[in-house]
Amino acid sequence: MSRAPLVAGNWKLHGSRASNRALLDALLRGMVGLEGVDCAVCVPFPYLGEVAEQLRGTALAWGAQNVSEHARGAYTGEVSAAMLAEFGCRYVIVGHSERRQLYGETDAQAAAKFAAAQAAGLTPILCVGETLEERDTGSTEQVVARQLESVLAKNDFGSAVLAYEPVWAIGTGRNATPRQAQDVHAFLRRKLSEQTRILYGGSVKPENAAAIFAMPDVDGGLIGGASLVAQDFLTIVKEAARAASTKG
Ligand code: PGA
Repeated sequence: MSRAPLVAGNWKLHGSRASNRALLDALLRGMVGLEGVDCAVCVPFPYLGEVAEQLRGTALAWGAQNVSEHARGAYTGEVSAAMLAEFGCRYVIVGHSERRQLYGETDAQAAAKFAAAQAAGLTPILCVGETLEERDTGSTEQVVARQLESVLAKNDFGSAVLAYEPVWAIGTGRNATPRQAQDVHAFLRRKLSEQTRILYGGSVKPENAAAIFAMPDVDGGLIGGASLVAQDFLTIVKEAARAASTKG
């Protein structure tokens, strides 16, 4: 059963009105005629409205990088799923390892954010992944299973997207080997429907994208650093389309 690949850019804390516009212009130009791959950019909150305008009617979807687990109330600094939905937001990253590590987000919070996103009609991109210490002590499967199952215990996964992002590979230039990615993806796939898209994330670059996307259970990527460089992101998107066409 073939799954349409998805390549999502995670801009993190980068951008400006001018650089966003230039980047999106270049992406839209480069994507003309491109088929067989879904593509999105996840941008910082202040730019969502402007990005939504620029991408209206195009094949490039957009999303947010975080969402509150609460619908409303006295939660200074938070943004609700309904607020995102009001702008036409499609995707939202949930449980990114930077949120977990730098801001102490728990499995329970990720599950609650996942639920809030789905309730508002957004598609969560749930991130799971082990640290280097966890990999070295052989607990990779146990860790990603715990992270996924805390969400599955409270939610139907539905059409949500899963992203396997080994923490030791994020922003380090050290990516998992295609085999390492495939092994974890196959393990996670057994807990989900055949239809669920599982993305790989962690130092995906134009040079390594083809080999990673060729793996049978890798359905595209969540791209950090390389999503800020139009030519790099476009090359990665094209590799995902090419890999999908050979998987049938
Ligand atoms: P990276 O980030 O591609 O810069 O490693 C990936 C991510 O954090 O989603």
